[in-house]
Amino acid sequence: MAIIQVAILGFGTVGQGIYQILNEKKTQLKHSLGVEIEVKAILIRDSTKNRMATPGVFVTDNFEEIEAIPGLQVVFEAIVGEEPAYDYLRRVIQKGCHVITANKVMFAKYGLELQELALKHDVHVGYEATTAGGVPVIKTLKNLLQVNQVYRIQGILNGTSNYILTEMRLQESLFEDALQEAQILGYAEADPYNDISGQDAFRKLMILSTLAFGQQPKWEDVVIEGIADVSIEQVQDATRDGLRFRHVAEISKGVDGSLSASVGLRLVGPEHPLYAIDGVNNGISIDTNYIGNLTLIGPGAGKFPTASVMVEDYAEIMGKTTTKTLVSI
Ligand code: NAP
Ligand code: HSE
Repeated sequence: MAIIQVAILGFGTVGQGIYQILNEKKTQLKHSLGVEIEVKAILIRDSTKNRMATPGVFVTDNFEEIEAIPGLQVVFEAIVGEEPAYDYLRRVIQKGCHVITANKVMFAKYGLELQELALKHDVHVGYEATTAGGVPVIKTLKNLLQVNQVYRIQGILNGTSNYILTEMRLQESLFEDALQEAQILGYAEADPYNDISGQDAFRKLMILSTLAFGQQPKWEDVVIEGIADVSIEQVQDATRDGLRFRHVAEISKGVDGSLSASVGLRLVGPEHPLYAIDGVNNGISIDTNYIGNLTLIGPGAGKFPTASVMVEDYAEIMGKTTTKTLVSI
């Protein structure tokens, strides 16, 4: 049986989740995909940190040592920021590796370039984890776009913000305390400014825009607001009025084909599709011509939801690229 050699770039919340799921599901994946997986190498930045044990895996802070591994076929990327992630992924694609990324900051800007490069080199790019954590919004959009046109997407796209707003409403938590909990739970970004400023939701909205509309609005035209200005009194007042604060990222296509997008706090009532979505959950409400309105809900951040969709991307890519016989599990 063929052995698929993979590397994991980044070994924080998400990278460790990928490693754990690959180990736990190794036998099942082998049976269902007809190929065996071997984690060959892990890239980290700080070699002095204490980490979980990864027996037999080469751990390095030097990307070139990973790039040089002969026969590497898949690279999972879970590091932070545009660079060096974009550079690393371009380099491994050029060597013929499939790539699977969780890095929305990088992918919002360079996703199209990476996909074009991958096409040229006959490899695949998985990016389900870039948007809405464990919610399969990318796969769903890809599917429905084969038949439908999308007019509007409205979503809670940041789990940390939604968690904070929910804790402020249900537990009367202070903003800072709820943010700290979100960090401990592995929901927040390395720099949580990205979560609470709306930047994280904005990047995810741009990824959805590219997929749904084939283009992005000019970034400077999008008003981006975060949640940092909302007070516990405002949250409680809204609750008394039967309303809830939601951090909503929204994009729609006008009849003239122009895109308009915004990211910010909205007060919504019980009739709104995003009203009931609490905690770390994300919700994405999609308006289309044939299906009508569709709302996806699920965990928008966290180690295992995010890692799970990355391993699902791996399975999908292997399903497309390997010939296999059906074996019962
Ligand atoms: P994290 O816990 O901070 O881990 C980041 C990892 O990347 C660390 O192991 C760090 O190395 C490594 N790293 C960072 N910059 C590097 C560089 N230049 N070269 C080599 N290694 C580098 O972050 P995370 O929560 O796992 O998130 C990883 C990525 O997934 C981010 O792009 C994030 O936006 C995205 N994401 C996260 C979630 C989530 O729920 N956490 C969900 C969806 C997507 P050291 O350990 O040595 O510092
Ligand atoms: N920090 C992000 C969030 C992680 O809270 O939604 C998932 O992309």
